[in-house]
Amino acid sequence: MVVLGLETSCDETAVALYESKRGLLGNLLVSQTDIHRIYGGVVPEIASREHTKYLVPLIRKAIFSSNLKITEITGIAYTAGPGMIGGLIVGASLAHALSFILKVPSLGIHHMEGHLLSSMLENRAPNFPFIALLISGGHTLLVRASGIGQYLILGQTLDDAVGEAFDKTARILGLRYPGGPEISLLARKGRSGRFSFPRPMLSHPGLDFSFSGLKTSVLKAWKKCLEIGDTGEQTISDIALGFEEAVTDILTSKSQKALESSSIKNFVVAGGVSANKRLRTSLKNMVSNIGCSIYYSRPEFCTDNAAMIAYTGYKRLRAGQYDTSIKVRSRWSLEDLTSI
Ligand code: KG4
Ligand code: ZN
Repeated sequence: MVVLGLETSCDETAVALYESKRGLLGNLLVSQTDIHRIYGGVVPEIASREHTKYLVPLIRKAIFSSNLKITEITGIAYTAGPGMIGGLIVGASLAHALSFILKVPSLGIHHMEGHLLSSMLENRAPNFPFIALLISGGHTLLVRASGIGQYLILGQTLDDAVGEAFDKTARILGLRYPGGPEISLLARKGRSGRFSFPRPMLSHPGLDFSFSGLKTSVLKAWKKCLEIGDTGEQTISDIALGFEEAVTDILTSKSQKALESSSIKNFVVAGGVSANKRLRTSLKNMVSNIGCSIYYSRPEFCTDNAAMIAYTGYKRLRAGQYDTSIKVRSRWSLEDLTSI
């Protein structure tokens, strides 16, 4: 089976091919970051137009670089949500057109399920059941995964997603979009202890998160710095570190709680924010202290990519699932997925 995967839910146009025997073949991506950066965030209409421009050339290139013929594709997987509707429609329409022409099944994939399963593309892959921390620009979820499509949400953010908090904090500090990599780069030069930000929800029972208060605390601290003209790179780095330390503490502590309140020993961390080095180190230490194992992806599979969509599609198409109509959704709960 050869599955073509398409990802167009946000500002990355991505294409990948996954084959039963050889695994991942082609994996290509065009990032629109430089275009959206001018506006300080993703502009949906521009994103859709860029997807339209790059999707077909990327598919051609992926097939060519994998030494395949288009007729060797036996299934098509595309991101059907959650995400920006315009971009999702671009991927879904092309997937359905190809499915019709090639006479092969197509299937809409949940973007966060793609992230959830992305570490299965690594040599050291997790087995079910596992607890997953899914942290991206739009989601912050703690999930119990018992099998494909068998997901129970244990905790989620009550306001901003953690990636969104990184992006908004970066904007406050005058840094570029996306904020996560910018903040983490500056935090390396930061001095610990100069800024200590609150850890919202940490003392609350349960596994929900809240990040909007943390962002407001950064804003207050930054306003004080502006008043006294203390806005140099060292101060921005100190704030970046204070923010990253708070986020790391919150995510580590809630993940530990989720693991300790279950009998599950496998822990998966996925999504764009899981590329963060300080967070990875903290989670790794926590998990080893409580006798569990951690699984994550290489950095390019933490952020949006089509490899995770092709792989998830492969698992589901192989089990006989396919679309009967085009359906894309801006909101979609992981708990509404079917198992295989
Ligand atoms: O999973 P992703 O690529 O797209 C969504 O599904 O949203 O996640 C994007 C988010 C952005 O908010 C970005 O700032 C954040 O991931 N991010 C990071 C890092 N790299 C990307 N956050 C913290 N540290 C990083 N190294
Ligand atoms: Zn994503």
